[in-house]
Amino acid sequence: MQKLLNMSDAVVPVTGAASGIGLAIAKCLRSIGAKPLLLDFNAQALQSAVEEVYPQESSASKHAYVLDVRDTKATDACFEQIKKDHGLITHAVANAGIVVPGGILDVTDEHWHQVMNVNLHGTLYFSRAAARQLVEGKRGAIVLMASLAGLRAKQDRIAYTSSKGAIVNMARGMAADLGPHGIRVNAVAPGFVDTPIRSGQSSANRQSNLARVPLQRFGTADEIAKATLFLLSDMASYITGETLVVDGGVVSQYA
Ligand code: NAI
Repeated sequence: MQKLLNMSDAVVPVTGAASGIGLAIAKCLRSIGAKPLLLDFNAQALQSAVEEVYPQESSASKHAYVLDVRDTKATDACFEQIKKDHGLITHAVANAGIVVPGGILDVTDEHWHQVMNVNLHGTLYFSRAAARQLVEGKRGAIVLMASLAGLRAKQDRIAYTSSKGAIVNMARGMAADLGPHGIRVNAVAPGFVDTPIRSGQSSANRQSNLARVPLQRFGTADEIAKATLFLLSDMASYITGETLVVDGGVVSQYA
């Protein structure tokens, strides 16, 4: 069993790794001896995150890459640099995402594109560049970060819900394309997880979310990281094209 979780030779770029779930994934990977590469557009937060993931290592900053996932050329260039610095990647996690409120009656074109550019286009640019390296190395697994909002709708989140729904199906499409190359692709759909992305939430909203969770608490970033690790590892060697819901039971309910 331990062998299945052995990722000691793994090189794993993770986007949105300066905060919340991405940072937890990087820490989790590091704790089992893998080499997570932290990618984020927030350079300052990235620096402290990489020091947290690689404590007391003088070469910590070699594992951090400032990248805005909306930039397709920069993404390709980042992967070239990663290959020079660390060799071919073995796995990848497309985690960066943002939320902008707005329903169908009031969403502006600007808000729509803002969300799509990060959540959907950014996920595509990153996953495509990752997939090309994985095909070269003839092995690997990718995890895309979806959301409950990709499986069920939420009022006043039309762009976010649409982008995450697309990610669920993107994982299926990528699984179909990459399966013949021996590469698995899955998505994780977190429920309500306490991270900075929820910092603007009102306490009334928090309470109503909490009331919908059978386990009666919010999830932690670490719990999402563990599910991600499972899907990346050989523990999930026959799972591809799936979305793993990690939500304390929210979507399992009838009402
Ligand atoms: P967070 O706000 O703590 O972290 C998001 C990270 O993405 C930040 O470090 C940010 O700098 C980075 N980022 C944003 N735009 C970027 C860009 N253009 N290029 C590169 N990096 C960028 O949020 P959290 O909660 O860790 O979210 C991670 C993922 O999990 C997102 O895709 C989010 O939609 C998803 N998710 C989170 C849930 C939650 O309750 N926290 C629930 C469901 C899904």
